[in-house]
Amino acid sequence: MSSTSDSHRLDAELAALASFSESPPPAVTRIVFGDMDRRARAYLKTLFGDASLVVREDAVGNTFARWPGRNPELPAVATGSHCDAIPNAGRYDGTVGVLGGLEAIRALQRAGFEPRRSIELVLFTSEEPTRFGIGCLGSRLLSGALEPSAGETLSSDGQSLNQVRRAAGFNGALEHVALSPGAYSAFVELHIEQGPLLERERIDIGVVTAIAAPASLRIIVEGQGGHAGAVLMPDRHDAFLAAAEIALAVEASARSTGVVDTVATTGVCEVFPGAINSVPSRTRLDVDVRDIDLLRRDAVLAAIERACGEVKARRGVAVRLEPINADPPAQCAPAIREAITTACESRGLRHRPMISRAYHDSLFMARIAPTGMIFIPCRDGVSHRPDEYASPEAIAHGTEVLADTLAALAK
Ligand code: GLV
Ligand code: MN
Ligand code: MN
Repeated sequence: MSSTSDSHRLDAELAALASFSESPPPAVTRIVFGDMDRRARAYLKTLFGDASLVVREDAVGNTFARWPGRNPELPAVATGSHCDAIPNAGRYDGTVGVLGGLEAIRALQRAGFEPRRSIELVLFTSEEPTRFGIGCLGSRLLSGALEPSAGETLSSDGQSLNQVRRAAGFNGALEHVALSPGAYSAFVELHIEQGPLLERERIDIGVVTAIAAPASLRIIVEGQGGHAGAVLMPDRHDAFLAAAEIALAVEASARSTGVVDTVATTGVCEVFPGAINSVPSRTRLDVDVRDIDLLRRDAVLAAIERACGEVKARRGVAVRLEPINADPPAQCAPAIREAITTACESRGLRHRPMISRAYHDSLFMARIAPTGMIFIPCRDGVSHRPDEYASPEAIAHGTEVLADTLAALAK
């Protein structure tokens, strides 16, 4: 059984999906539960229906599109990804796994394949942390890694997750989101690499072996505000300058491991009151730290905490650290890696094992199902930018390998 991806159709669908954006093209911004996210979901659900998939949504908006198998009682084989996009992003992150997953299913349907297990496409809610401060919201809840009480504790602009999701039409109790153990016999996610290795080495497919351990924290610095002209320099306790030193310490802490796998980023800096003629009284930093090695990642977090203490004492400011998440890495299942590798070989595609430095919903799906990931090259390794690009050919390779893998796991 050999299926072929319809590249033209998939490319047109990726373009159509990219048009649901809060920023002008080529940038894509699609924040979870915003108007564009809702329109993108509606578009995707139409496509799922056109492929005769049976669609269900849960209380947090995870959307499941099922192709029933010959033996529907068996645990299904699942694939999928996300369609939310961080501010000023591109069109391929997540969407290649959703639309590519759909095209893999359609390709198998066209080839006359009749799966024994059902094959389920999952559109995860809020893989990006933009709105609620924590990534992989939907898959955390699905896997039981996040308590349903998050509906009240997580918030966005003063509204709880529960209020926001209900306003977007997702009702019901978050207690019902977690999947029962064994719900899926396998989960496979197709994604762009978001790094340069595949393109540089002219390799078609990355077979992911493990996903790096992500952590994030919020750092609130409280200093003393005042008039920018009147407060004398020796008297200042400038919250932004203290935060700036902390941001530099974040960088230094990651660099100090001497290992390329350690990365740390201060991606958010909010200065209050944010007036040119006012000494900043409060600054918030959001910091992201990752490593494939959990102990080394945690050592960096500890170094950042020490730096905060040092800056606090020297500058006479208050510093509060609020951990957001600190997740262990995930290992991909050998059986799924093997199925992906076999698919690459039967199609004559070059492949290599690789680590995912970005996190994905697979990080959490790996807790409840044997999981694997298929990476395809993206131009210059660029991602989370408007110029993110994956060629139709690369996407077709990924989609076809995904189709073969799903077929092998569902037959
Ligand atoms: C996912 O988007 C990540 O930040 O790794
Ligand atoms: Mn992303
Ligand atoms: Mn992604």
